[in-house]
Amino acid sequence: MSRLPKITFASNELPKDGGLVVLTDKSLTLPDGVASDSVTRALDVAKFEGGKGKTAQILCPADSGLDRLIVLGTGDVDDLNEQDWLNLGGKLQAATGEGAIAIAAQNPMQAVAMAQGAVLASYKFDRYKTKKGGKKDEKKDALALTFHTDDVAAAEAAWESASGIADGVMLARDLVNEPANVLTPKDFAKRAKKLSKLGCKVTALDGKDMNKLKMGALMGVARGSRNPPRMAIIEWNGGKEGEKPVAFVGKGVTFDTGGISLKPPAGMGDMKGDMGGAAAVTGLMHALAARKAKANVVGIIGLVENMPDGDAQRPGDIVTSMSGQTIEVLNTDAEGRLVLADALYYCRKEFDPKFMINLATLTGAILVALGNQHAGLFSNDDTLSEQLSAAGAVTNEKVWRMPLTKEYDKMIDTKNADMKNIGGRFAGSITAAQFLQRYVGDTPWVHLDIAGTAMDSPSTDINKSWASGYGVRLLDRLVADNYES
Ligand code: BES
Ligand code: MN
Ligand code: ZN
Repeated sequence: MSRLPKITFASNELPKDGGLVVLTDKSLTLPDGVASDSVTRALDVAKFEGGKGKTAQILCPADSGLDRLIVLGTGDVDDLNEQDWLNLGGKLQAATGEGAIAIAAQNPMQAVAMAQGAVLASYKFDRYKTKKGGKKDEKKDALALTFHTDDVAAAEAAWESASGIADGVMLARDLVNEPANVLTPKDFAKRAKKLSKLGCKVTALDGKDMNKLKMGALMGVARGSRNPPRMAIIEWNGGKEGEKPVAFVGKGVTFDTGGISLKPPAGMGDMKGDMGGAAAVTGLMHALAARKAKANVVGIIGLVENMPDGDAQRPGDIVTSMSGQTIEVLNTDAEGRLVLADALYYCRKEFDPKFMINLATLTGAILVALGNQHAGLFSNDDTLSEQLSAAGAVTNEKVWRMPLTKEYDKMIDTKNADMKNIGGRFAGSITAAQFLQRYVGDTPWVHLDIAGTAMDSPSTDINKSWASGYGVRLLDRLVADNYES
C-alpha cells in the first residue's frame, strides 16, 4: 500500500521552524512572521501570482528558522467550493512530498477538505513493486501534515468522517486495481466480509445458494469459470429501527473475457476493472459505516468471472432469471446485465428498499457517448435523478441523464424468449439500461453506467491512479444530504 500522509490538527499559532505552507490569493498577502522582502522577491522571481492551485517553493536561508516555505495560491477565495479545497489539498501533497509540514490557519471545513484531498492524492497502487516506487520508498519519511485551524475540536470531529470516506474511496481503488488472479469472486467476498469490523452485517451466497434461488441469469455467466461465483450482501443499520433501507447494487465481474463471444486481445487487460460497480458499493459501505451514517443501507454485489470454457454458456442459449423472465443470450459479452438482473430482483424481493441504485461498468458505448467525464444516468425517478445530479456537482463525480422509452425497450424483444441480452448496433448503453429496467418493477431506481469513469482515469489533483474510486463520494453525499435522520 502507498504511504499515506499522517494528518493532525493544531491551534492557530504557527511553528517557527521546519516546513510551512501558507495560502494566499492574488493580493499575495502573507501572514505576519512570514511576510518579508526576501519572500516577496522570491515570489516575484518565481512569477507567482497567487492563482488557484499554483505553488512556489522557497528554500530558506540558514538565518531564518524555517527550512522551506511553500506558498499555495487560492485565486479568489470566495469562489472556492468544497471540491476546490480538496483539489488544493492534492496540490499541497504534490508540492510537499515528504517530511513534516505545517499548514497555516484555515477554518475547519477548509482544513479537513484539504487533508482529505492530500490523502486521496497520495494513493498509489504499488503493492507489487518490489524495487523503485515500492519497498525502497518506504525508507523515506512519510509526509506528516499539521493543519492549523481556529477550531481544532471541530476539525478533528469532521476529520473522523472525512478520513472514513477517503478510506472508502481508496478501498474501491484498490479493488479495481487488483489483478483478477488475486481478486476472484471468492476473494472479493472475503474482502467485503472485513466490513463486519466496522459494524456491518455481511453475508455471502455461493453458487449452491444462488441455484436454489433460481438465479439462472447470473449462474449462466458463472458457469464458464473455475472460480465459483458469490453474491455478497452488506448491511449497515445506522438509521431508525424498522425503517426501509436504501440499496446499492454493483456489477462485480472480476474478469470479463467476453466468454465464448471472446473480446479482441487489445486492451483486454483492462477488464480486471469490470468489477468497478461492486468496488464502489463496497467502498461506499465502508465510508458509511466508518462515519456511522444515520441511515439503513444495504449493498449487494454480484461477483462472477466471465470466461470461455467447455462448460461456458453459448450464444443462443436461453436462461431463466430469478424473476421468472427468460433471456436469449445472443452475446455472452453482454454479461453484466445478466448478473444485475438477478442481483436487482433479489434486492427488491429481499429488502423492499426505498430505492435501488446500481453501478456497473456496463457498456463501451457509454465511453463513446460521454467519455470519462460523466457517468451515464438512467432512471425511472426524477427526484432521485435530481438528487444525484446535485451530489455529482458538489463532489465532482458527475452524472449525465440519458433517456429510457418504450421504443428503446422494444429493441430487446425477441421471438424466442421474453427478451434478448443485446439491442443491436445503436443506442447500446440505452438498450442495456432498458434491460435492467425490466427487473426493477416500480421501485425507484437509478442505473449508473460507470465504464468511462471507474477506470483508465485521467490524472487529477486528487487521483493519479488507474482506478478512480468513482461513486463512493457521490453516493456518500447523496445519503448524507437526503437520507439521514
Ligand atoms: N465490461 C464490458 C463493458 C466495458 C467496456 C467496460 C469498456 C469498460 C470498458 C461489458 O461487459 C461489455 O462487454 N459490453 C459490451 C456489450 C455488447 C456486447 C452489447 C460492449 O460494450 O461492447
Ligand atoms: Mn462483457
Ligand atoms: Zn463486462
